[in-house]
Amino acid sequence: MQTTSLFSSFTTALAGFAALFFLSLFSPLPAAITPAHIGYHSEVRLVSVEDLPLPLAQFTTVFWDPRDTPSLRKLMRLTDAVKGKRVLEIGTGTGLLAACALQAGATHAVATDINPSAVLNARFNGTLFGFANRLEVRQVTLAQPDAYAIIRPEERFDVIISNPPWVNRLPQSIDEFALYDASFRLMRTLLDGLPQHLPPGGRALLAYGCVDAIKTLRSECAKRGYTFRVVDDDRDLDKLPEEFLPGMLLEVTLPDRR
Ligand SMILES: C[S@@+](CC[C@H](N)C(=O)[O-])C[C@H]1O[C@@H](n2cnc3c(N)ncnc32)[C@H](O)[C@@H]1O
Repeated sequence: MQTTSLFSSFTTALAGFAALFFLSLFSPLPAAITPAHIGYHSEVRLVSVEDLPLPLAQFTTVFWDPRDTPSLRKLMRLTDAVKGKRVLEIGTGTGLLAACALQAGATHAVATDINPSAVLNARFNGTLFGFANRLEVRQVTLAQPDAYAIIRPEERFDVIISNPPWVNRLPQSIDEFALYDASFRLMRTLLDGLPQHLPPGGRALLAYGCVDAIKTLRSECAKRGYTFRVVDDDRDLDKLPEEFLPGMLLEVTLPDRR
């Protein structure tokens, strides 16, 4: 049993590397790039979404479930939500949303993550897609995990996007940071920093699929005088299961002081 599963992980990893190598032959990169070029030697899966022309690489422990964010990706793909804009993505994972923003015409994206494999993964995908000079991926530390801990005080973005962890629970391992946001600290610090990092009237686009998180977001926005809006979704929060898919797209807008 163990030999079979070892064999199957080995063949999956081999297939992943072979596919990435094959892909790289058709990518705009001058030379082939594989995860080994950036010092990553564990398993790689290939995953796709309709928004991007090539599959993305997914490294071990890095989150993947595009059912969290179909409305956010569709909004970026079909409207001017990010076109010509500077975007900050908090909690980038594979780099999926930052890549979709750049694909949709964002001029520049800064993407953060607390999982070191996600930081490598998003940088790798950025390079694979030819976005390396428009995508900056930054490592958040466990010691200082607030939403803007690695964003300079004077840095401003036109739009902030995130598919943050949804459940109010303490993560026990690095991959659980994709799912759990203890006391909703990431959510609260993300909201606290909006006036400093967005222009007046600017907005954050957030994906959540958890009733508790969405109700908390709504009340935390009200406390801060922000406008909270559910975007194009008529599902009733009081009739949904505690956690649900696809995720709901929430827009948080700052007061326009001009
Ligand atoms: C639900 S996953 C979303 C990943 C990606 N945006 C996507 O949609 O596929 C949440 C991500 O947030 C990251 N994360 C959790 N806490 C964080 C923090 N304090 N700062 C930055 N990233 C964090 C996790 O490591 C994970 O990659």
